[in-house]
Amino acid sequence: MKLELKNPTHVVFGEGKIARLPRLIPAGTKVFLLYGGGSIKRNGVYDQVMAALQGYPISEFGGIEANPHYETILAAAAQARRDGSEYVLAVGGGSVIDAAKFLTSAITTDEADPWDAFFHKRYPKHILPVGCVLTMPATASESNAVSVISSTERHLKYPFANEAARPAFAIMDPSTMASLDKRQLSNGAVDAFTHVLEQYLTLPGNTPVQHGYSEVLLRTLIEWGPKLLADNSPEARETVMWAANQALNGLIGAGIEQDWSTHYIGHAITALYGIDHARTLTLVMPSLLRFKRDDKLQMLVRYARNVWGITETDERKAADLAIERTENFFRDMGLPVRAGDLEGIRVVAADVVDHMERAEQTKLGERGDIGPAEVKRILDMAA
Ligand code: NZQ
Ligand code: ZN
Repeated sequence: MKLELKNPTHVVFGEGKIARLPRLIPAGTKVFLLYGGGSIKRNGVYDQVMAALQGYPISEFGGIEANPHYETILAAAAQARRDGSEYVLAVGGGSVIDAAKFLTSAITTDEADPWDAFFHKRYPKHILPVGCVLTMPATASESNAVSVISSTERHLKYPFANEAARPAFAIMDPSTMASLDKRQLSNGAVDAFTHVLEQYLTLPGNTPVQHGYSEVLLRTLIEWGPKLLADNSPEARETVMWAANQALNGLIGAGIEQDWSTHYIGHAITALYGIDHARTLTLVMPSLLRFKRDDKLQMLVRYARNVWGITETDERKAADLAIERTENFFRDMGLPVRAGDLEGIRVVAADVVDHMERAEQTKLGERGDIGPAEVKRILDMAA
């Protein structure tokens, strides 16, 4: 096993922790406050942030979209430069935090075309620090390096990664989740579940620590995801918020050949049809697992036994049962698992493949053996 792991994000978790902001951002710092379509103004989170930052010079930019747009982020960067901002504070879900991590490089870059520069990993040496207040558990964007950004002009949704942009701190107050509707709650819990599977259902490897912790996270989400939907209780909120963070903060994937094919196919589907991120994943993943069952057999059997308690002794049958249980879990959480579940949308495989080719994502999976032909087969199976 070989790995490197560095996660400098200072996590501050618990109810009432937004009040800690003055301990996390030095007094007098010019803060650039970034947020989404207005949920934080309706649920009191904006007021809590402003109360905590009383006396700080603050400029703000609202209107970051779900699946954040490159063009909007460039407009925010221009404002942050004009205002002489020194610290970017993202308040929202994964979209706002992803936007903030991309924005911080867009503020200081000299490149004429930041998308092209960052696509080729040419990030500026100096960027502003980013902090965040998370309002929706799902992506773990609050403590990872990834920004998934959509360009309207390019018709692309692409995952950029800049280690320097990992948030300096993440305030995670589960009570902010009280205003999330059922759709967002289920999206979040299931997105986190797929993040674990993309790092777990791969090659066996000698990584019992990572695989063992992945199983804890999967069992936790299977138990607490439905509870969260049922009553959005404080216990369910804090459990799912913490599990979602652990699912993609780097720990369980360290030293592992990761998959991410479901995510890349899903990003293409969101770019083409505007479907919520999590809903594209549940559409693809069961079919992808069936398609790759024999390659993933060893880990699928382990998953069947340790996560779902399946005792079937025939390994292929056990793997099939585990995939079926996964599909049922997605369906029970209210997400689509077949193209027919999408109302009024027809997913065209050729367009998905075209997106993947333009994103240079044509060798997917832990073995790099999922290309255009395989993607078409997988989407046919999901029809
Ligand atoms: O925009 P506002 O008004 O804030 O409303 C949001 C948005 O409409 C709303 N919301 C968030 N917190 C709320 C709330 N509504 C009421 N009460 C609250 N407390 O929920 C809607 C969805 O928010 P969004 O941030 O888009 O959701 P999510 O956290 O699922 O983020 C999705 C984005 O993250 C990317 C996805 O591709 C997508 O663009 N991902 C980022 C990853 C990463 N950084 O590692 C990995 C993921 O796999 C994913 O690809
Ligand atoms: Zn995801």
